[in-house]
Amino acid sequence: MKKILLLNGPNLNRLGKREPGIYGVSTLKDLEERMIRLGSESKIEVICFQSNHEGDLIDKLYEAEDTGIDGIIFNPGAFTHYSYGIRDAIAGIDCPVIEVHISNVYQREEFRHKSVIAPVCVGQIAGLGVLGYELALEAFARETEGEE
Ligand code: DQA
Repeated sequence: MKKILLLNGPNLNRLGKREPGIYGVSTLKDLEERMIRLGSESKIEVICFQSNHEGDLIDKLYEAEDTGIDGIIFNPGAFTHYSYGIRDAIAGIDCPVIEVHISNVYQREEFRHKSVIAPVCVGQIAGLGVLGYELALEAFARETEGEE
């Protein structure tokens, strides 16, 4: 059974309450429960973690490699735009990462147009709401087709 880590960064614990016009009304709990259920339908174990702290996210990236996680779906929140520490951690692990943003960061403030994470990720999904997480899971699920 494949294992996927769903990693959410700062302020995403406030999903559903935080700027719902931008981020929607689903809570983080709604999102995590849905991803776990969708994963199990594709025989994928989805492990969820959220932190507001950069170091905790970096530790989780290394732990993912050490525990044999097959792929990471990662919304790094505002760290996307400036965390070289997170970028270096992703570059240093042998585990594919798909970057997800709920909002279309390219339609928003200029500082959100740059992702320092994107060059070390296999792909990026932005602007499709929480559906973006599901599409990232689908991408990993297709990779696992035909395997046990
Ligand atoms: C976000 C976009 C970031 O710019 C922002 O700081 C977030 C959420 C998104 O999901 O759209 O916290 O990553």
